[in-house]
Amino acid sequence: MTSNNSLPSTFLRPWNDSAQDLEAVLAAFNADDMAGQSGEPINSEAAARRWLAYWVEKKDAHAVGFAIECDGQAVGHVMANSIEYRHETAWVSYWVTPAARGRGLAAAATAALADYCFENLGLYRLELAHRVNNPASGHVAQKAGFIVEGIERGKLMYLNEFDQPVRFDVRTYSRLATDPAPSIARLPVQN
Ligand SMILES: CC(C)(COP(=O)(O)OP(=O)(O)OC[C@H]1O[C@@H](n2cnc3c(N)ncnc32)[C@H](O)[C@@H]1OP(=O)(O)O)[C@@H](O)C(=O)NCCC(=O)NCCS
Repeated sequence: MTSNNSLPSTFLRPWNDSAQDLEAVLAAFNADDMAGQSGEPINSEAAARRWLAYWVEKKDAHAVGFAIECDGQAVGHVMANSIEYRHETAWVSYWVTPAARGRGLAAAATAALADYCFENLGLYRLELAHRVNNPASGHVAQKAGFIVEGIERGKLMYLNEFDQPVRFDVRTYSRLATDPAPSIARLPVQN
């Protein structure tokens, strides 16, 4: 995707503490299916500021994350955390705001992040997982070159609309530095 002057209009970039990024984070976490994508509910400006501060301050040497910017707005997030330099592994996850979904952004961002992890961080094995009732996430993983490893039964527990606990099986994936690279386009990374 390129704009008229040939500069990329869709790319990965660091998060910043601008009002636009704050608004983007609040809007993104307002989606019903975003519960569980953060340690605390991002349902207030203060919580969104805390979420952003983690990525803006970059104090955690075991995590790298980028905003997915599209046409001047942050519309998603891709990250590798739990980076383990001893074994060269990390945990990958992603989200895209509902309005920007279905355009291949998550897959292009995840493939770019994987390249970044292998080439810039020297990692060897990337892992990710999704609840089995989230097939779109599985499509993203496979388009980005991740391979299914198996099912972890009853791994996650969330409350339903009646505040009752429900357990979910989880499908696990990995991508090794030596696996075939996917053929899809990657988003450029502006570091
Ligand atoms: C999962 C998510 C990141 C996908 O973002 P996206 O930008 O729409 O993803 P992409 O467009 O790159 O790819 C989505 C793929 O899933 C497919 N898909 C979408 N909904 C689907 C469904 N209900 N069942 C099966 N496949 C589905 C799309 O067709 C597409 O595949 P295709 O390109 O082969 O057609 C987004 O829905 C999201 O943020 N969900 C909430 C957070 C989340 O679940 N994150 C993952 C946590 S493990």
